[in-house]
Amino acid sequence: MCGIVGYIGNRSAIEPVIEGLKALEYRGYDSAGISIIDKNNAKLIKTAGRVERLSEELSGLKESYGLAIGHTRWATHGSPTKANAHPHTNSKGNIFVVHNGIIENYQDLKQFLIKKGYRFKSNTDTEVIPQLIDYHLGKTKIFLEAFKQTLRELRGAYAIAAAYQDDPRNVYVAKLSSPLVIGVGKHEHIVASDISALGSDTKKVFYLEDYELAVVSSDSLRIHDYKKSMDITKNPENIQVDSKETSLGDFPHYMLKEIFESPQTVQSAIVGRIKPNENIVKLGGLESVANQLQYIDRIIIVACGTSYYAGLVGEYLIEEVAGIPVEVQLASEFKYRKEPLSRSTVVIAISQSGETADTIAALNKVEDYGILRLGIVNSVGSTIARMTDAGVYCHAGPEKSVASTKAFIAQVTVLAEIALYLSNGNSSLYKPVVNELVNVPTKITEILRQSEKIKKIALKYSKYRDFLFIGRGYMYPCALEGALKLKEVSYIHAEGYAAGEMKHGPLAMIERNFPTLALLPNGNLFEKTISNLEEIHSRKGPIIAIHSQKSRVQMNIEDSIEIPETIEQLQPLLFATVLQLFSYYIAVDKKLDVDKPRNLAKSVTVE
Ligand code: M6R
Repeated sequence: MCGIVGYIGNRSAIEPVIEGLKALEYRGYDSAGISIIDKNNAKLIKTAGRVERLSEELSGLKESYGLAIGHTRWATHGSPTKANAHPHTNSKGNIFVVHNGIIENYQDLKQFLIKKGYRFKSNTDTEVIPQLIDYHLGKTKIFLEAFKQTLRELRGAYAIAAAYQDDPRNVYVAKLSSPLVIGVGKHEHIVASDISALGSDTKKVFYLEDYELAVVSSDSLRIHDYKKSMDITKNPENIQVDSKETSLGDFPHYMLKEIFESPQTVQSAIVGRIKPNENIVKLGGLESVANQLQYIDRIIIVACGTSYYAGLVGEYLIEEVAGIPVEVQLASEFKYRKEPLSRSTVVIAISQSGETADTIAALNKVEDYGILRLGIVNSVGSTIARMTDAGVYCHAGPEKSVASTKAFIAQVTVLAEIALYLSNGNSSLYKPVVNELVNVPTKITEILRQSEKIKKIALKYSKYRDFLFIGRGYMYPCALEGALKLKEVSYIHAEGYAAGEMKHGPLAMIERNFPTLALLPNGNLFEKTISNLEEIHSRKGPIIAIHSQKSRVQMNIEDSIEIPETIEQLQPLLFATVLQLFSYYIAVDKKLDVDKPRNLAKSVTVE
């Protein structure tokens, strides 16, 4: 989604801002822009295209600029045109603003400003910000005061960076429900909406909290709480960004690279946590709340998209292994739901990015309930990681493809660990799950070795327009996730269903042009799922079965993919890998932008 990068310092500001914007490209955007300022001289350059285009336009500049704010925009209010791209300015063109989030009361503010004689050039909500600053500046004559007053009048979510041509030594930033960080360099600061935009030389960072603004210059930083009207003192935190992990290497796409990282992903999620020889599951991130966890009697998992489906797998796992009732709710629904919540409930938020606005809002909802809030997060230091009381990191490393793959694998692995941890070793499944978790990386590797075969089958089906994914038990959430993956990268209509639901409606769609991908592991639900396949087969629906050696299909189906045997509770880790590869190869065959599907963004920072 939208990205912010700003620079103030003693070298040319253009390079760090353009590099930062490039680092944020994977998150999805449709236009870009930059304002550059140096003593009495300011330029505004925008494009309805890529950051590379901006970079080309800037290459002819002779002067050096010490301040720049840049932005990549993912359109919400107004189409992706040059006029709607950020930075936005006041009518005089001397105040520049980039903004992530949504200003919910922008219509009211716009009407107010229009009545005061202001004219607007874009369809965005953002444009009210520089205009409102201008309005207050006219009264207070002090930019900081005008900025503060503007912030107090904005409703919604925002991360903002602002610059004023008459004050080329300072960048002004603020945040509410949208992340903003300030990287510290030598005689320089870089402000950004994500630490990945700060560059590998930046080792220290300040995280702004809600209702904090900062006045940032090359050598100093003033942080102020504009709700409480008081200055804040805080220390910078260390960051570690491993740039090696984020390069494509020999892979054609991040999605494929990240699928192939799954064995290592599971390994990283279990190392130091699962010790089969000692029969131990150690989750350091939960130690501080271990006592509270003894008394919980209900878990609510909140998440969106793929993380939500991982949560559904977690529901099966925690209920079966730890015997604690679990409910999984879409974060966007949970936050508006009026349900009774007791203090013995734990809310677990699952998020790869740790910045998903709906999931943050769900956690905010229960902030004052005295309820324990845990996180299963991949991005270290992200908003959700910081706002939860405790949690378990996924350690999957950066995930750049919009389609989440290895993060799902890591989330399910962590959920299995949490299930084991909460069982206190009192489950008959404890030992089998602990022992089998360490075998999963090798088994996923065996599946990856079959990628050519999976590709061949995928290509056979790439021209179909509709798909059904079915499974029972642990395979039901996998079916939902498989359908989501196919939809988002190949734009093929796909639905995930519990196999037992076929006769209650979806069977009506089945005919020779409507293939079904059946998830068919060995286990007590095998025969029931086979009966569902018979019903599809007799209606001429093509079937692709993913199965193990012990769950081969005896009827004459179109295609099958055999994968290694594992215990029921960990089957999602193996089956999901096949589904991810299947979707990937179809998308490549359709010549689509696999890593950046249309209309989607990696990190959904608006509700
Ligand atoms: O970063 P999060 O895990 O909170 O993101 C949640 C969803 O937006 C995300 O999983 C989305 O559904 C992916 N594009 C799916 O591949």
